[in-house]
Amino acid sequence: MATGCQRIVLAIMVAVSVTLDSCASSAEAGLLQSESANGVKGKKRDQEKECDMYQGSWAYDTSYPLYDPSACPFVRKEFDCFKYGRPDRRYLNYRWQPQDCDLPRFDAQGFLRRFQGKQIMYIGDSLSLNNWQSLVCLLHAGAPNSSISQETEGSISKVTFQDYGVSVMLFHSLYLVDIEEESIGRVMKLDSLKNGGLWKDMDVLIFNTWQWWYRRGDKQPWDYIREGDRTYKDMDRMVAFRKALLTWAEWVDSDVDTIKTSVFFQGISPSHYNGTDWHEPGVKDCSKEKLPMTGSTYPPGLPAAAYVVKEVMSSIRKPVHLLDVTTLSQLRKDAHPSIYSGLKVMDCTHWCIAGLPDTWNELLSAALAA
Ligand SMILES: *[C@@H]1O[C@H](CO)[C@@H](O)[C@H](O)[C@H]1NC(C)=O
Ligand SMILES: *[C@@H]1O[C@H](CO)[C@@H](O)[C@H](O)[C@H]1NC(C)=O
Repeated sequence: MATGCQRIVLAIMVAVSVTLDSCASSAEAGLLQSESANGVKGKKRDQEKECDMYQGSWAYDTSYPLYDPSACPFVRKEFDCFKYGRPDRRYLNYRWQPQDCDLPRFDAQGFLRRFQGKQIMYIGDSLSLNNWQSLVCLLHAGAPNSSISQETEGSISKVTFQDYGVSVMLFHSLYLVDIEEESIGRVMKLDSLKNGGLWKDMDVLIFNTWQWWYRRGDKQPWDYIREGDRTYKDMDRMVAFRKALLTWAEWVDSDVDTIKTSVFFQGISPSHYNGTDWHEPGVKDCSKEKLPMTGSTYPPGLPAAAYVVKEVMSSIRKPVHLLDVTTLSQLRKDAHPSIYSGLKVMDCTHWCIAGLPDTWNELLSAALAA
């Protein structure tokens, strides 16, 4: 009995001392803030707790872009707006300004040192490719003399900054869940994630899937959908998307050691083919867009898929981070290649490199540092 009482007392004392500590630190933060007029240190402390990095607006800033796109040897023709003659350059000079704090400028040297010996992998469709290229260019710009190796094997492309032992990888996967060849044809298996065993060995994972879910006809790379032991010719595509994301979410909870591996989902990336969305009815693509939208809201709001992503993310018990880039990217109708890429078709889906994905990676870096 006596021992039990002692234990209770001790527990109370610990609780009290913790409370005192947190009072002291918040008082200290307040003091720092009121002491200096610009309050850099104190402000930063408060911001780490409260700032939503994804709420904000675009600021014109000629200290951007973060690198010269013509000096990055990794830019593919799909994203190389600079090489393919985009005449306007203003789209390169924007910095994301969160409402209640500042987004730290990307620090390539710091990033490489911090992730020494680590493997970072983007997994998903061509928007993952877009994002991967941006990080490779950002890191290359900060370590131009580092020896770099490049290899592609099957679904995996890998760039390694050898002086640091940092590998930045891309795993090409349209739906995250598997598509397998069977006697009836190509079957998309909504509850199968066979590549997970490889993914979970990485140190940072950034997932994405969305662009391919509504494709039909020749552009649909599967013939049937399977869930459990039931096979369907088709189903509501948003329902299928949600089921696949739930499979991914369950895999994160059951298989990923989030102490070792940081897990991100790259939010829905918007396209700009309908001017009604930005108050220019009749406009059918992004070819004349030279400026981002001002302010912090996009008239039509979030696409339905973004709500599905948020709902599924919130069902995951382990710590995962949504790179919530949808709204800030919706504001950037000016940042697509349009006709200025090696593809020579109108592209208002992907993004120029250098360009918007550099901000996605600044947000990734800030989230990894938090
Ligand atoms: C890279 O090498 C070049 C030529 O040797 C040198 O001028 C430059 O300062 C180096 N850059 C960095 C960031 O070390
Ligand atoms: C553009 O969006 C508006 C409003 O959502 C819609 O009514 C219209 O049909 C769309 N236009 C096209 C070409 O999809």
